[in-house]
Amino acid sequence: MPRFEHPIKDTPASLQWKGPLAGTDHTVIRVPDLDVGVAWYRRLLGLVEVERSAGRAFLASPVTGRIVLGLSEGGTGLDYVSFRARNAEAFEAIATKLDEAKTRTALGVATTRPGALDALRVTVPTGHAFEVIHPDADAPAGPVEGEYRPGALDVRTSHLQLRTTDVKAMTDFLGLLGFRSSTFVTLPGTEGYFIQFLRVNEYHHQVAILTGQHGVHHVALEVDEVDFWQLLDNLVVTKMAAEYGPIRHHEGNMLSMYLRDPFKNRIEITSSMEMVGFDYPPTPAGHEPWYHMNMWGPQPPHTWETEWMES
Ligand SMILES: [Fe+2]
Repeated sequence: MPRFEHPIKDTPASLQWKGPLAGTDHTVIRVPDLDVGVAWYRRLLGLVEVERSAGRAFLASPVTGRIVLGLSEGGTGLDYVSFRARNAEAFEAIATKLDEAKTRTALGVATTRPGALDALRVTVPTGHAFEVIHPDADAPAGPVEGEYRPGALDVRTSHLQLRTTDVKAMTDFLGLLGFRSSTFVTLPGTEGYFIQFLRVNEYHHQVAILTGQHGVHHVALEVDEVDFWQLLDNLVVTKMAAEYGPIRHHEGNMLSMYLRDPFKNRIEITSSMEMVGFDYPPTPAGHEPWYHMNMWGPQPPHTWETEWMES
């Protein structure tokens, strides 16, 4: 995505290759202490708290003013993830599809970020809350006064990785919200999958689902490549140690690094993701398993496969 987003007038033709949802709107992570959490995410990324209500703090990019992350007081793990409909028709189409599938759906904007005209929420098979919003405007609010200055990072949303014992059930359910498979690995001898990378827009994935104990493995935010290297340099000053990285992912073709927040929530920071188009066919991963995590070689520490948030 460009450093400065401009409102783009989509046409029926462009929506064919971009999909009905604009991607992840924002992700809300649970933290035991809201003030400590807000301070940590500000120190790491320069995110600015623009709203606090009902135990949730909403944090925006200083460059665009767009809310990209929320923190919810109490516990750890995922509160909810929200995806943004490109227009009212796309929002209504998803609501109708959920209705036809007799999915229990909660409607209303009471628990989402400010600026939503409408919102719907479902519980996915892992037990997590997924939301779709219809925003009052897709254009970001603009630079945050006093926060947009040299060194400010243009932070955007990226994706979420969940672990579950039934990757196929999650994949099928998320199909109701418009998600499509980008890359997958099957579970030998079964109809199921070991991994699914799913997209709901023109970029490679907004949700990755891997086999494992139910839970949220990490939440990913995105910056431009030049900001990615600057962030790494900033860690020298902030004394925040990376858990893993910098690395190069195969799926999505991004630079990536991982950190744990003070409460052990795992955060991924990536560079811009590969654009494949919404009409990209589901593709089996044809490479060695190690290659998908890091094309440069070094593989994750043991914590990767033993530690993530259960909720
Ligand atoms: Fe990831």
